[in-house]
Amino acid sequence: MKRHKIFEAELINLREVPEYVVQYVELRNRNYKALISSMMTVEDTREWLAQAGIEVRCIVEDGTVAGAIALNSDRGGELTFFAAKKNTGIGTELIAVMEKVGRDAGLEKLWAWTAKGNVPSRRAFEKNGFRLKNTLAKEYDGKRIEGVIYEKSLSG
Ligand SMILES: CC(C)(COP(=O)(O)OP(=O)(O)OC[C@H]1O[C@@H](n2cnc3c(N)ncnc32)[C@H](O)[C@@H]1OP(=O)(O)O)[C@@H](O)C(=O)NCCC(=O)NCCS
Repeated sequence: MKRHKIFEAELINLREVPEYVVQYVELRNRNYKALISSMMTVEDTREWLAQAGIEVRCIVEDGTVAGAIALNSDRGGELTFFAAKKNTGIGTELIAVMEKVGRDAGLEKLWAWTAKGNVPSRRAFEKNGFRLKNTLAKEYDGKRIEGVIYEKSLSG
């Protein structure tokens, strides 16, 4: 693992530790273009988090949200993740965390859509056992974004 463990890191369930919602939203909004999404407000996020099918885990280092991953069970186990510093292995740690959450919730699989050109995201899924399932383009900001769907079975 490339990430140097010089910080006190903890894993939090965002629903149970809501004081980190503001930081979560700031980090998410810094990454909203890579997520092919729009900005979210703290209020929107609190409402979204109240939904039963949503699980969010954050890695917090010295009181700062260093990375986060969201799982949407109502969308068949869809993942979205983002990190403050890229290519440090935090993406891999976040995927492992959500695999356990998904298994414990009885999900059969996890999946994620990512832009075709998003190499760090694609690499993080591929090196963690996700398989390329499909291609799917999305309309975003008036442009067509070519994308890919990765999937990993949690059974067996
Ligand atoms: C996607 C994201 C969460 C991954 O987190 P991360 O901590 O960077 O992930 P990891 O370090 O575990 O893995 C990234 C891999 O991509 C590789 N990589 C990154 N850029 C690369 C490039 N330009 N060419 C080749 N490989 C590259 C890294 O070297 C690493 O692989 P390795 O460990 O085999 O060397 C992070 O990059 C991010 O926040 N991106 C912006 C948000 C986003 O795009 N989210 C995905 C949408 S679902």
